[in-house]
Amino acid sequence: MTSKTPAAPGTHGAVLADPAPEQDRPLVELRRAGKSYGNIRALHGVDLAVHPGRVTCVLGDNGAGKSTLIKIISGLHQHTEGEFLVDGDAVRFGTPRDALARGIATVYQDLATIPLMPVWRNFFLGSEMTKGPWPVRRLDIDRMKRTADEELRNMGIVLDDLEQPIGTLSGGQRQCVAIARAVYFGARVLILDEPTAALGVKQSGVVLKYIAAARERGLGVIFITHNPHHAYMVGDHFSVLRLGTLELSAARADITLEALTNHMAGGAELAALKHELAQVGGVDVQALPDDAGTAPKTAAPDTADRTDRTNRTESTAPDSPASGTAEGKA
Ligand SMILES: Nc1ncnc2c1ncn2[C@@H]1O[C@H](COP(=O)(O)OP(=O)(O)OP(=O)(O)O)[C@@H](O)[C@H]1O
Ligand SMILES: [Mg+2]
Repeated sequence: MTSKTPAAPGTHGAVLADPAPEQDRPLVELRRAGKSYGNIRALHGVDLAVHPGRVTCVLGDNGAGKSTLIKIISGLHQHTEGEFLVDGDAVRFGTPRDALARGIATVYQDLATIPLMPVWRNFFLGSEMTKGPWPVRRLDIDRMKRTADEELRNMGIVLDDLEQPIGTLSGGQRQCVAIARAVYFGARVLILDEPTAALGVKQSGVVLKYIAAARERGLGVIFITHNPHHAYMVGDHFSVLRLGTLELSAARADITLEALTNHMAGGAELAALKHELAQVGGVDVQALPDDAGTAPKTAAPDTADRTDRTNRTESTAPDSPASGTAEGKA
């Protein structure tokens, strides 16, 4: 009975059906884009599309070009080849402010927070709410506290006390506050540069949960990571960079976790490493898995539909983010 139902237009949050591709114009798109720093070509011929309500994962080893790619999208650098489109318009951002004005927000790993200031102050840092007419204008502290609390709850983030200095939160919680902040200030595209790189298993899970929450609120998310397992938990599309070019670009339905892990591990490179280890001695090379088995034996979830993914990510949600709670901004 679910045959060919067109995606509900204009609904928010609960759009679970896959919209028809032609209706689903990317928020951000790169076409054969590249970037050279002088005569160093850091990125070349990259195609990438970010859709509303989808998570696009960008994977790759050190120096693969991941940061270069997001710097183009976030307005820090300009591409030197190909095209960069936002809502279908070719653009060239001069500063990160230009990107923000188009709803593209970036959460960097070294978050720009002031550790000794309370959580709510950091939430509004640089965009404080004020009250009163100009000469006697002052901070609207009550409203900022209330709003920060509401917005964090809307994302399913429950903190005991917003007065506590943000420096006392864990790395994962700080990432989550930064994500909620970007959502509140109207981001449509959220770029996360290795948000789980420095985190343990549990904290990474928390961050992944909010990535899923941002997607449920209709944002397009670009999730940069080294970790194929993290990517596969929340990703809708996977782009693997190697030496500045796109080595793999696959929709979730077209790739298993095992295949993705193999791509990241670089089957051939692992074989070479194994060979080198054999020369050094002290490593029982025979006991290592063979090249075909370089991927950890994790059961790859084989269903690719969205409902399934939602279930997987919400198992840790204390309070799943309410859909359609985007009030307070636009
Ligand atoms: N400002 C720059 N000037 C010259 N070369 C640069 C500059 N920034 C990056 N590069 C080069 O471009 C290539 C890609 O770097 P990039 O930082 O994008 O990689 P990455 O995938 O983010 O790596 P990592 O995982 O280590 O963060 C590297 O070879 C790097 O040396
Ligand atoms: Mg980088």
